[in-house]
Order: sequence, then structure tokens, then C-alpha cells
Amino acid sequence: MKNIYSNIFKFNKNSLFKVIYHLKKDEVIGLPTETVYGLAGNAYSKKSVRKIFFLKKRPKFNPLIVHYYNLDRASKDVFTNKYFFKLYKKFSPGPITYILKKKNSSKIDSLVSSNLKTIAIRFPANPKIRKILKKLNFPLAMPSANKSEGISPVDSNDVSEEFKKNIKIIIDDGRSNIGIESTVIDLTSNISILRPGSISKKLIEKTLNKKIKVIKNNKKIKSPGMLKKHYSPGIPMILNTPRPKKNSAFIAFGKNVKKNKNIFYLSKKANLYEAAKNLYKIFRKIKKEKYKKIYVAKIPNKGIGIAINDRLKHAAYNKWNLK
Ligand code: TXA
Ligand code: MG
Repeated sequence: MKNIYSNIFKFNKNSLFKVIYHLKKDEVIGLPTETVYGLAGNAYSKKSVRKIFFLKKRPKFNPLIVHYYNLDRASKDVFTNKYFFKLYKKFSPGPITYILKKKNSSKIDSLVSSNLKTIAIRFPANPKIRKILKKLNFPLAMPSANKSEGISPVDSNDVSEEFKKNIKIIIDDGRSNIGIESTVIDLTSNISILRPGSISKKLIEKTLNKKIKVIKNNKKIKSPGMLKKHYSPGIPMILNTPRPKKNSAFIAFGKNVKKNKNIFYLSKKANLYEAAKNLYKIFRKIKKEKYKKIYVAKIPNKGIGIAINDRLKHAAYNKWNLK
């Protein structure tokens, strides 16, 4: 509890008790997952869900992911299918979110999925959140713990910075292992990836033995996380730049750029997993250092690099350039 709001806690018996107590009282709290930190509340409680939307300033039409301990519990709320089982067996618990049809008997609050007939479900792998989920008799609605359109948090301080004293508990678990959000896959009709993540399209296709689509931004919005502007550090960002420019921040991949105070290395080893883990931390750092512009090196568009490029593209979408 060293931060100024005294709301960051190590995970132990005492804090677990507090977490359960607050969640049962419809409070929302910050929790670690293997992807990014989340803002968690009881998915069966309108009061909790409203608080999440309010704190995040999230538009009501952008639905939340519901997090479960196991399949047995999730089966109360959604209809499963054979594709789901194949993926679940291989990747869950882990960084993948499935869109499935909601059961009429489900107690999930309708606001969670913005009145859609589907629900996004995920089984996080982080052992601490699994211990919490196991003890609860409701699942957790949990978006990334940042203000809408902003940068996702990858440690407990990031969460505290986002919500200050407005949340009472944040469970600390160091840096998020993966660093970018889960892959979102729609399994309701034509299977399609709505948001790329560390579990790649290639791996999913191999598992299902089937070609799948990736939904691009333009047409009808299927996943509002696909809204053009997102994950944004709030300053203009220019992608695929070969060399740094004076007075602007430069995000480098590999170590082929000379060290300087405006250079931010995603991964000196040119490792895409390391780059994903560092991406949002670097966004935050650059923003804090008050740069006016960010240039970004070209990132290989393969494996988790596809997800990195997706986040960069959203972050670079800048209405303010047009103003
Ligand atoms: O890794 C993650 O998924 C993190 C951690 C905390 O679990 N959570 C996360 O939640 O990224 P959020 O709210 O930041 O992003 C959820 C994404 C959004 O793009 C949302 O539009 C989409 O999932 N989504 C949720 N429910 C949906 C539904 N029923 N149909 C289509 N898209 C949905
Ligand atoms: Mg988010």
C-alpha cells in the first residue's frame, strides 16, 4: 500500500477477503490478468455494471467481457458449440475471448452485453484472479482498467493512475505477462476474429482445421473495440517510420537505432512477445514525458506482431490532426 491513494494491495489472505467482500457489495476493483489489468464487478449486478461503465466513461453500446472460473459455470449463461470446445480445450484458461449466444435463463445483466443476444466470455489464466473467481458465486464483468479510448494498464500503478481514489482496491501482480488484450473470436455464426491477440489466427485455424476471417474496421461495427480510435496515448502517432526525427518520440524495434533520450525500444532483441509486453508501458512513458508526436518503426506483421500492429493502427487514428 505504498501509493498515495493506499489502494494497491499485495495478494494474500487478507486482501482476498477484502476483494470478495467488496465484489459482493457491488463495488468495482482492479485485478490482474495475464493480458492487461481489468476493472472488475459482479456481472449479475446492474449496480456493479453501471459503475464500470461510469468509471471508464465507456459508451453504453460497447459490451464487456464476462470472466469465469470454469466451463461448468459459464454453461449457465451461454450456448456452447463444437468449435468452442476445440478452442477451449486448447487455449483456456488463457488469453482468448469467445462470443457465444446468451441463454434466456442467464442472470448476466443486459447492460453487460449492451442488450445484444450474445456474450463475450473468457477464462483468465492468472492464478490470482482464478483464486478470486473460484470463491465467488457470480462471474466478473471486466474491461481493461483504463478510461475509454485510453491506454490499457499493465501494472497496478497504471490502474491507480487511471482511476485515482475512485477505486478502493487494486490487486498487485507485477507486470502483465502478455501486455496486450485477449484475442476476441465470434463463434455465433461465421467464425471470425474481432480483435487479434497473442493467440493468432494461424494457430486458431490449425486447431479448428478451418479457414477463418478477420473482421476489418470499416463495415458494420461488430465489436465496438474495433472503434477506430482506441488504445490512444492522445498525441499524433505516425507508423512505419524508418528513422527517428528530432524532438519527437521514436518507438524502435530491434537495436538498429542509436540510443538517445527520445528513443523507446520495444525490444532490443527484436522479439515480438517482448515488444507486446512493453507496448503500453512505452505509450504511457512517452505521454508522461510530454512529447507532441510519436514516430514508430515498422513492426513485422506476423504472430503477435499482427496484434501489435492492430493496436498501433488504432492508437494512430487521430481526429485531432483534422481539427
Ligand atoms: O484481455 C482482455 O480481454 C482484457 C482483460 C481485462 O480480460 N479485457 C478487455 O476488455 O480487453 P475490453 O472491454 O477492454 O474489451 C472487450 C472487447 C471490446 O472490443 C468489446 O467491444 C468486445 O470485447 N465485446 C464484448 N462483448 C462483445 C459481444 N457480445 N459481441 C462483440 N464484441 C464484444
Ligand atoms: Mg479496453
